Amino acid sequence: MSEANKKRILIAISGGIAAYKTAELVRKLKKDDFEVRVCMSRAACEFITPLTMQALSGNPVHTDLLDPTAEAGMGHIELARWADMIMIAPASANIMAKLAHGIADDLTTTLCLASEAPLHLAPAMNRIMWQNPATRANAELLAERGITLHGPASGEQACGESGAGRMLEAAELADIIRRQFATNNRNNNNDDDDDDENDSDDDKVLSNPLENKQVLITAGPTREAIDPVRFISNRSSGKMGYALAEAARDLGAHVTLISGPVALEAPQGVTVLAVESAQEMHQKALQQAQSADIFIATAAVSDYAPKQQATQKIKKQAQEITLELTQNPDILSDVSRQYPSLFTVGFAAETEKLIKHAEDKLKRKKLDMIVANPVGDNQGFDQDTNQVEIIWDQGQLSLPEQAKSALAKEIMQIVSQRFANHPILV
Ligand code: PMT
Repeated sequence: MSEANKKRILIAISGGIAAYKTAELVRKLKKDDFEVRVCMSRAACEFITPLTMQALSGNPVHTDLLDPTAEAGMGHIELARWADMIMIAPASANIMAKLAHGIADDLTTTLCLASEAPLHLAPAMNRIMWQNPATRANAELLAERGITLHGPASGEQACGESGAGRMLEAAELADIIRRQFATNNRNNNNDDDDDDENDSDDDKVLSNPLENKQVLITAGPTREAIDPVRFISNRSSGKMGYALAEAARDLGAHVTLISGPVALEAPQGVTVLAVESAQEMHQKALQQAQSADIFIATAAVSDYAPKQQATQKIKKQAQEITLELTQNPDILSDVSRQYPSLFTVGFAAETEKLIKHAEDKLKRKKLDMIVANPVGDNQGFDQDTNQVEIIWDQGQLSLPEQAKSALAKEIMQIVSQRFANHPILV
């Protein structure tokens, strides 16, 4: 690739033992033909030397805000403009706090404030620091402002403790960076279908974030028993949820499908757990969510169930009878509340005000994404085709009417991209 076409990554290293992984990250990025420059905080230089990073990046390393030699070469403002993307790895609790509050008292924080390039962070710190309410609030503030946090992962830490706080591995971060540019390229190429050269670049850099991930999906209707032979239910056929299960499986995920009563065959390679009522689905979902990475709620769960179930078939006697209903638990809300680090996708089935109601559900149920479909009038329920609006905190996308199998593939691609970019908040 010519120098002019190379993507430019500015890697900023803050103080933390995980800095040793950043050396490997820089090596990988150079190998993938990225143009890499490195800036390091004073604390970072205690963990790894600028000389190492210079040798790996092939460029002088920037360490000081007011360094006359550096300013004579590429000054900090020029560096801020140069970058196509900034990745801070490791990102300490301290630098997260500074960025959240707009403090610019060293080279990295000043660069970030002065740059329009997308900013990505790979947090790394002791697990208690990561769980501290101040760090949690800073992480949320940064995510709200469009700064993307990757990780941290859970596991054994350098301090000897175990928990969430490990920086993602160099290979994972390199993958995220490649994917980021692949997505940008794809978006830029939408209007330019003839650009074969870029298409092949995309193919080269795309990888699959769902590989070996645990995806939990609910599908179909629930049945709320009135007596031993009658129930309340809805028209959901399960087609949408089953198609999503197949699409997730095809992307390499391990899929568990909690299914209400449907007339569909279990997709090959997918674990199907059959349930009847909302209560059963609720219990199974909470249990399975413990080991899931992604939860997709496609099921049309009955919002209400009869307050009492008759033990015998209700006899036809009175002219009118009244059925008392009581609210069922909200499975999706409970899962997203109990497992805040899970990537949660809801569906919204609406007969009116599609976007408004879907946005309300996205917020109220604390979801990462919601798929809104118009229903009724031969739409959505029990149809072979569907049309949806996908909404997340900072984006929205319309997918036109098409077969549920094709739609499911598109939805899973978007879930997979958003999942790869979402911060893990524990
Ligand atoms: O099964 P098909 O025939 O293929 O039809 C597909 C579909 C129309 C059922 C599907 O695309 C769809 O929209 N599913 C969600 C239906 C629904 O119940 O939507 P809702 O807007 O009422 O609920 C919002 C979300 O909360 C949904 O993700 C739902 O699964 C979840 N929920 C709702 C109530 C409840 N008690 N627990 C829940 O988890």
